[in-house]
Amino acid sequence: MTVQIRPMTLRECRRGLFRRFVRHSTDTHIWKNGVLVEQSFMREWDRAKCRRMEDGLRQKLKEGCAVHAVWKRRQLIGFCAVEPMPYGSDGQYLNLLFLHVSKPYRGQGLGAKLFALACNEARARGAQKLYLGAAPNKDTVAFYRRMGCTEAVEHIQELIDAEPDDYPMEIAL
Ligand SMILES: CC(C)(COP(=O)(O)OP(=O)(O)OC[C@H]1O[C@@H](n2cnc3c(N)ncnc32)[C@H](O)[C@@H]1OP(=O)(O)O)[C@@H](O)C(=O)NCCC(=O)NCCS
Repeated sequence: MTVQIRPMTLRECRRGLFRRFVRHSTDTHIWKNGVLVEQSFMREWDRAKCRRMEDGLRQKLKEGCAVHAVWKRRQLIGFCAVEPMPYGSDGQYLNLLFLHVSKPYRGQGLGAKLFALACNEARARGAQKLYLGAAPNKDTVAFYRRMGCTEAVEHIQELIDAEPDDYPMEIAL
């Protein structure tokens, strides 16, 4: 599969960007307060959510988020975004806001490549650690553990309030 991975520009963040993007994921278990429990999990982006993602990502680019995108011809098949503002007691964290690979393209190493780019970006911006609120399902947490992430030493309340079910994780850079 020939793909291009590069920083996303504001111009590329256009209407319809997510039209063919498949966010869908399901699982049978989720992490809750550090314990894996049996609970069905499903995440999906409908049309309205895709629109909100377009608008949200555009705004984040304007605010200085570093966004990397994977393109197959002109189709977006993966992306990650690192926020510019530091978090944590010593400003040690930058936050990984998004990391998604469209369903038909998962399991081919793209998530790992995007994660490495997010780490490089955070390191280049002076962070000591990358923070992320992982979707709490078993598979997503397993992916981040494979990437070397562990439970976050500091739980960032502001980010937890925004996504209370997420599993706070970090990796030293
Ligand atoms: C999580 C996600 C980004 C991973 O991307 P991906 O392209 O499928 O992952 P990769 O193919 O790069 O996998 C990288 C490594 O993680 C491992 N991995 C991936 N999923 C795993 C799982 N469920 N359990 C254990 N290891 C897993 C792979 O085996 C691979 O290891 P390897 O280097 O030994 O081969 C992708 O599945 C996704 O977008 N899921 C839905 C959205 C989501 O959950 N995003 C995160 C929100 S916080």
